[in-house]
Amino acid sequence: MDAVFQRCIDPACAATAALDDTSFVCPRCGGLLDVAYDWNRLRPPESLRFFEGKWSQRTEPLSFSGVWRFRELLPFAAPEKVLTIGEGQTILQRADIVAGYVGLEAGKLYLQYEGMNPSGSFKDNGMTAAFTHARMVGARRAACASTGNTSASLAVFCSATGLMKAVIFIGSGKISYGKLAQALDHGALTVQIAGDFDDAMLRVQQVAKKLGIYLVNSINPFRLEGQKTIMYRILEALRWEVPDWIVVPGGNLGNVSAFGKAFIELLDLGLIRRAPRLAVINAAGSNTFYQLFEKQGLRWNNGKPAASVSEAYYANLDANQIRASTIASAIEINRPVNLTKALRALDRCQGLVREVTDQEILDAKAKVGAGGFGCEPASAASVAGTKKLRQEGVIAPGERVVCVLTGHQLKDPTATVAYHSTDQKTFDEVLGKRGVRRAAFANRAVQVPNDLDEIIKAIEVYS
Ligand code: F0G
Repeated sequence: MDAVFQRCIDPACAATAALDDTSFVCPRCGGLLDVAYDWNRLRPPESLRFFEGKWSQRTEPLSFSGVWRFRELLPFAAPEKVLTIGEGQTILQRADIVAGYVGLEAGKLYLQYEGMNPSGSFKDNGMTAAFTHARMVGARRAACASTGNTSASLAVFCSATGLMKAVIFIGSGKISYGKLAQALDHGALTVQIAGDFDDAMLRVQQVAKKLGIYLVNSINPFRLEGQKTIMYRILEALRWEVPDWIVVPGGNLGNVSAFGKAFIELLDLGLIRRAPRLAVINAAGSNTFYQLFEKQGLRWNNGKPAASVSEAYYANLDANQIRASTIASAIEINRPVNLTKALRALDRCQGLVREVTDQEILDAKAKVGAGGFGCEPASAASVAGTKKLRQEGVIAPGERVVCVLTGHQLKDPTATVAYHSTDQKTFDEVLGKRGVRRAAFANRAVQVPNDLDEIIKAIEVYS
């Protein structure tokens, strides 16, 4: 057996696949795969403080990268194979104004700004890992279905390295302009499907298999290896202290799966003594995980979640033609491919799921913008969810909470401008149809005639 391989996540199956296998499904049961390590042969560090030494090596690209400076914890690639574009230079910011909004004590809320990545979202953490694996297996084309950020990330990795052609599948009219602009500008072959993300996800898997194109969606376990490092950077920024809660928006459930794996491995390696609790926040209009976990009691069940529960749920969606629908287009997903892995993460990290409305998301987003660096709507679900968990008393006011802000504010200017707009028609067209009724934290532009006295008067009145 090799020291690194792929393995079915169901412990009772545990079938393995070779490191260079690119089918990304268990060869025996068709389930999800992990990247698995024989740690006895790989010699991981004995303390997380080991990684502090990497800061003095910042002129080396692998130590500069916020992903690969932790490469001893994702040791699947030889250093010369790694493809990095400088991803993972992100910031953990103490956010007291937002803490006040959600009902936490000052100093207890931190925001992890993954929008600082080269393509503007957390996806670059995973893409550098998948891209590295794609290079290891000699891929020439890479594909994904996307609500916009995975495709933007893939497009940037292809344009910046010139090593592969990006083929992206998006639901027609389903991604925000910032993200579409990136795909087009970076030269990706952009296939707009008459359908939504769930349709595109099915198609891309069929096409990738048929044409032998390397798939970079988060069903690819190498993607998740890269996304583990978001957690390492949070721990690093907190001087290796484990927070009480990590709160993250849930769409295809790749992130929560990766975070769970990160903590399971750190516990197994004895590098931390306890894991934080994980909270996944769905948008109410695309709340499959919330429904299955919280309402129908679906659990990891040691690798065998009751398939009848999720099958009946999906059959009902189909029978009633229910489609995902939320202003947070990044998480407008009803059939999360990583469902079982996400259940494992919640099992091992005492996790839970909540849903928040588009109104709650946009209000939280405005607060993040007013009290920090800003984020796109989906990301603000984490803050809105934290507020809800505080109100429920699940999170205590003195607990230390990290919300992962997954994407940059400029990814979706339409939603932001509509929220702050003085024009009721713009508001109604973009937000009213989503059930958003008010913009309590709107910062309205002030209309003034082109006249010096009037301008000065307006500034004196409003500032
Ligand atoms: N936040 C943002 C900004 C996203 O783009 C996504 C997913 C999520 C949260 C949810 O993360 O899927 O790991 O649960 N976007 C994918 C895409 C689906 O295609 O860009 P998840």
